[in-house]
Amino acid sequence: MVNVPAPTLQTRGFPSKLDVMRESRRTPRMSRLHRGPKIDDDSLLGQFIPIHYHYQMLTDPNRMGAFKSAIQHAVPIGSRVLELGGGTGVLSYFAAQRASRVYCVERLPANAAAARGFLEKNGVGDVVKVIEGDALEYLPPEPVDVVICEMLHSAMLREKQIPVIASFKQRYLEKFGGILPRFMPEALILGVQAIEQDFDFDGFHAPVPLFSDPTDPRAREISPPAVYSLFAYEDAFSQKFGWSGSLRIAVAGTVNALRFVTKNVLAVLVDEQRTIDWHMSYLVVPLPTPVTVAAGDSIDVRFSYHGGDGLICLLESLEVRRSK
Ligand SMILES: C[S@@+](CC[C@H](N)C(=O)[O-])C[C@H]1O[C@@H](n2cnc3c(N)ncnc32)[C@H](O)[C@@H]1O
Repeated sequence: MVNVPAPTLQTRGFPSKLDVMRESRRTPRMSRLHRGPKIDDDSLLGQFIPIHYHYQMLTDPNRMGAFKSAIQHAVPIGSRVLELGGGTGVLSYFAAQRASRVYCVERLPANAAAARGFLEKNGVGDVVKVIEGDALEYLPPEPVDVVICEMLHSAMLREKQIPVIASFKQRYLEKFGGILPRFMPEALILGVQAIEQDFDFDGFHAPVPLFSDPTDPRAREISPPAVYSLFAYEDAFSQKFGWSGSLRIAVAGTVNALRFVTKNVLAVLVDEQRTIDWHMSYLVVPLPTPVTVAAGDSIDVRFSYHGGDGLICLLESLEVRRSK
């Protein structure tokens, strides 16, 4: 996940024919409110991340610290590791400090070449094998102990973590049988919350979707978050996310946005009775029609989308109204 606004990632990707068919099936008609091109560029082109966007990821202390620590705790010495979506190879590098063999799969040829060079220069070229390939198709030549996959995006939109892990599990069991490897992240928790967001920019009012962190002074919490998905990757999980429920209003205000909360449980350390987590940026989605509320009120919220869908799919499905 790159914590920069989504439009800057709308670079040319390499969607396969199957991707295009699958995505166009899922892309609903554009509503009057979100009228735009019929092709969902966000979903089609957002999944691959060219090398010039990796700096943000490499310098994100929360992301890097959490993954480094989780890898140190969860990758056994001498183990076999597979990384899906290797980018610069940094997580494979961390894994190579402990594993005896790491397979690192990256779809973009330039990224794969860069990762190969970086890993060589960082002294683990003989441990990490970089494969230029599609994580939706690749399987390692031997069983692995740990699978690391950071194709994560707030609310699990855009990037293909969910379809990639679902496909991997099925293909891996068909090829190797037995038990699944340990996944990193191990689990996912998604939540939604009503907020009042300041969308004024130097006198210009523009309710745009945005990414923010918990300290954003422009956001005011109006309801506590409600969890709408929680699962462990090793268990069977649905690729469809959605919720139909009520948010209880805690403070009076104008609900003009929903905030989507994404917590990745990278590693569960049972012996230490703790988890290593990565909280991603909040995704803030403006409402077409703000709702004025008082403490004690409720609002009914409904939405649905598939993991890896573009933001437009969430926007299209979103319904918010005051509870009767
Ligand atoms: C969020 S980045 C993370 C990169 C790296 N793992 C890290 O943590 O710094 C996801 C990477 O997955 C790659 N990617 C996306 N879809 C892929 C696919 N289907 N197969 C292989 N790589 C893919 C992207 O190009 C990008 O480099």
